Amino acid sequence: MKQQNHLIDLNDYSAETWGKIVSLAQLIMKTPHVYKGACTGKIMATLFYEPSTRTQMSFQSAMLRLGGGIIGFDNPETSSISKGENLMDTTKTISGYSDVIVMRHYLEGAAKAAALTADCPIINAGDGGHLHPTQTLTDLLTLTEEKGQLSNLNIGICGDLKNGRTVHSLVRALSSYSNNKFTFISTPELSMPDYIKKELDYQEKSSLEEALPELDVLYMTRIQRERFANASEYEQQKKVFELDMAKLKSAKPDMIIMHPLPRVDEIAGEVDSDPRAKYFKQANYGMYVRMALILTVLNHDIDMKPLLFGNVSLQKCENLKCITNYEESLPNRFVKSDGAGMCEYCERVQR
Ligand code: NCD
Repeated sequence: MKQQNHLIDLNDYSAETWGKIVSLAQLIMKTPHVYKGACTGKIMATLFYEPSTRTQMSFQSAMLRLGGGIIGFDNPETSSISKGENLMDTTKTISGYSDVIVMRHYLEGAAKAAALTADCPIINAGDGGHLHPTQTLTDLLTLTEEKGQLSNLNIGICGDLKNGRTVHSLVRALSSYSNNKFTFISTPELSMPDYIKKELDYQEKSSLEEALPELDVLYMTRIQRERFANASEYEQQKKVFELDMAKLKSAKPDMIIMHPLPRVDEIAGEVDSDPRAKYFKQANYGMYVRMALILTVLNHDIDMKPLLFGNVSLQKCENLKCITNYEESLPNRFVKSDGAGMCEYCERVQR
């Protein structure tokens, strides 16, 4: 396997590396003209197997602003996938046409699987309900700019914490900074998975009103309809948490409200004009952070941990949303976690 500068999980890098990417994004915001031709002659492929507005377009806009070119698809039906081609054959082939691949897939662990054989860096733009590291870089830049700090924060995270990949990556990253506390606000059915909660300083609440007064940051998320097994389960979960101006009265005057977007009904439109609402700014920061990330990955200016893999196993991953259950040639690999085996692709601890 050739070592590339993949970005699969932010935790494959040190917090110092994340800080360098955020600082570079700040520099790009201040002096965009300096970076105009920085990727001339380079090609980025965007492979989106799932819908996207902000992630896909901010990556494309980022590359165009750096002077590079873009290829890709956002409708797999128009590519050879519709003929039955598997993920790794597709990504291996496209990695020969491009200098970096940005990939979003509905299966957990898909980006890691692609990275095993790709001849160029793979950037994980979301793998099912698992991780979304480039949204987290966006969130770190937003917090740095709008809050001025990444530590000593009480961060409330509300909504679909089970299926929301943005919050999984975010919590992992913010737990690396000192003295951050987490308040998870969700229904019991949609609570934060154990693999994210372990070794965290957190409390769980079932009401926004109860949590709001203590928070420095409120991170809202939508209920991830596409991850539910059936419509009635989704119907029971939607509209449980709605932020409006009446509720916001009890929040700190300098609390900031973030949301990875798209919003459905979890934040009332009236909140948009409150100075604490930062979500549209956050979406804009995403473009600058992705410019910084593309430059970092292409300039090999990054110091990643190798993609470590445990022993090949005949055992199948229990998670039916894991890539290993669909990609026949992919070796099943597990590492030890608290005495049990944990799938290296999707991180599900096996019973
Ligand atoms: C998020 C995603 O795709 O996970 N969107 C985004 O990238 N900004 C959040 C979501 O879809 O709810």
